[in-house]
Amino acid sequence: MEHAREQDNITILAIESSCDETAASVVRNGREVLSNIISSQIDLHTLYGGVVPEIASRKHIERIDQVIGEALGTAGMALGDMDAIAVTYGPGLVGALLVGVSAAKAISFASGIPLVGVHHIEGHISANYIENRELEPPFVCLVVSGGHSHLVKVTDYGEYEILGRTRDDAAGEAFDKVARAIGLGYPGGPKIDKVSKEGNPDAIAFPRAKVADAVYDFSFSGLKSAVLNYLNSCEMKGIAVCQADVAASFQKAVVDVLSEHSMQALEECGMKKFAIAGGVASNSALRQRLEAECEKRGVAFYRPSPVLCTDNAAMIGAAAYYEYRKGVRHGYDLNAVPNLKLGVK
Ligand code: KG4
Ligand code: ZN
Repeated sequence: MEHAREQDNITILAIESSCDETAASVVRNGREVLSNIISSQIDLHTLYGGVVPEIASRKHIERIDQVIGEALGTAGMALGDMDAIAVTYGPGLVGALLVGVSAAKAISFASGIPLVGVHHIEGHISANYIENRELEPPFVCLVVSGGHSHLVKVTDYGEYEILGRTRDDAAGEAFDKVARAIGLGYPGGPKIDKVSKEGNPDAIAFPRAKVADAVYDFSFSGLKSAVLNYLNSCEMKGIAVCQADVAASFQKAVVDVLSEHSMQALEECGMKKFAIAGGVASNSALRQRLEAECEKRGVAFYRPSPVLCTDNAAMIGAAAYYEYRKGVRHGYDLNAVPNLKLGVK
């Protein structure tokens, strides 16, 4: 089957299964989403207070064919209309990634349609291209998700310079752990976001960690410990804990650090464009703060809609388009790489 088409009309079937969402999407020319099907396993993992890798893999296997079929059906297209099959091959949970990678390889092999492996974080960053058709690199992007916290300079499509990263917990992980400690359950991010609206963000002075030798690096484990210590000392003293105040004060500490590092990076790079990505990028306090800080500095602020911040396959289709145009094609030896580094093809 011949799939050489006009370079300006590329349709990609994208698959994402790196964590607890089974997702497939059809994306045209990197920015036009024709379908975006997400089958979330959140309810299932809530029972255990977090993602259980074996359960995630099993559910991906059960759902992936249907999700892919639905993505094609909603787009009103057949497999033969696709120019490439894109799939997240890392980073993520190895068993979960393998389901998407195996499905993509099988479809590609059976149809002869080229295979393009995509880095999950590159997908998160590329989510910004979908609703902001005018956005082009270079720009600075803050990627904050359950597994990653990176401050990245996007020098060109698919070209990244890592300015800073977390030394320990990812921002989303800190949200999830603190939420569990104050009895909000999983997934913590959206719950802390919600209850914080009723709390006083200045009620408790939690630390804003700095990493001595790397100005843009983050550290959230000290903050998490400070929250746990606060809860313990309240319990020992018999003081009632105000859940909303703890949530709001914790959230403000995270937002302060993320915002301060981002603004410093923007100023030093002399960039006038700033984007956010990843699950935590849907946090309302973070969005508001970054928007206000960017406005003060005359910086254009970009953020995906919440549904494109958390894991989805449309973002993988957006990233894959630019990789495809650069000539990136993967062979059938493509494997899941749980700790895949950004910028390593
Ligand atoms: O990007 P994502 O869906 O998956 C990963 O690639 O990790 O991010 C999930 C993370 C979870 O830790 C979740 O608690 C967090 O994003 N999150 C939020 C919010 N919505 C999701 N964190 C803070 N505020 C939110 N509104
Ligand atoms: Zn993600």
